[in-house]
Amino acid sequence: MAKIVLGMGSSHTPMISMPPDLWGLHGERQDKHLRELISPRSCEVVTYDQLLAEADPKIASALTLERFTAQYNQLQRGVAELSKTLRAVNPDTVIIVSDDQDELLFEDNMPTFNVYWGESIKLMPWAVPEGTGPAVKAAVGGYGDVEMDVPVDAALGKHLIEFMMDAGFDVAHSRYLKEEYGGSIGPAGYVWWKRETKPRSHGMGHGYAYVVKRIMENKPITILPIGINTCYPPNQPTPKRCYQFGQAIRAAVEAWDSDKRVAIIASGGLSHFVLDEEIDRQLIRGMQEKNGEILCSLPKERLNSASSEIRNWITTAAACDHLDFELVEYVPVARTAAGTGGGWGFVRWQ
Ligand SMILES: [Fe+2]
Repeated sequence: MAKIVLGMGSSHTPMISMPPDLWGLHGERQDKHLRELISPRSCEVVTYDQLLAEADPKIASALTLERFTAQYNQLQRGVAELSKTLRAVNPDTVIIVSDDQDELLFEDNMPTFNVYWGESIKLMPWAVPEGTGPAVKAAVGGYGDVEMDVPVDAALGKHLIEFMMDAGFDVAHSRYLKEEYGGSIGPAGYVWWKRETKPRSHGMGHGYAYVVKRIMENKPITILPIGINTCYPPNQPTPKRCYQFGQAIRAAVEAWDSDKRVAIIASGGLSHFVLDEEIDRQLIRGMQEKNGEILCSLPKERLNSASSEIRNWITTAAACDHLDFELVEYVPVARTAAGTGGGWGFVRWQ
């Protein structure tokens, strides 16, 4: 019988790989133009100026390089701790639970749950257009800087898909990447406009590539990429469904006729692009107390835009219910006076 011997959760914000003296610039450049800023108070899409108007004025006085540097150091400690733990436990396979953000999946076909079970999956460093600023350049390297084929546990993938179909989860599956990916997202729900991505070559999504680059330090262990449509209406799974899916992942691993030691990692979250410390702390309390009711009842209207990646953590927490939880770091970062930024978390279950 295979076993889940380790669980982890890691944020994968570009800020982890971006020097802190660029955080303010990044916030100014990106956040003022973001069309998917959602107020944690109204749960409505707002402009940067609207967010600024309702923000606590104390945020502005805390935007210092000294504070950013301390927070950056906390992020590095979080990554280093998880990386060290993964090496020490040395599992046979690492299930990565993450999501796609206009990378490989568009509205020609958007699965709620997807399992990739090819023999390998390509990691391709992102192309950086000429004239890209230093903040973006530094950040993209965090999603892979070496092209490689990462081995995939196809046998576990096949088993998991078959198990899920019997367990009432009609999962989608994929086995290879195409030459090019492009398409559109929206308008639907909070994505109030049609967002187009021109066809281009693209390797595994950022959530998986981040784990290979930063947590595995470019020395990949065999992975199994599981995708959840956390982000895009109208078929995002509810928190409760994510929890049940995580329980089913654990049951599938334990029903697998193999002696492999399996790890599972949630990649993404916590709240962003607008910091919502309250929802982050609810999630953390649910994980700490192993309280399925808290995790299942996180309000889905607070889990949109990038904060939706909290669903990956709910799933992973359910799969790790038999292990002891530890909060390694939680770093709530406001990078602009409007409170844009995010709650960056690093946890493990052993
Ligand atoms: Fe993400």
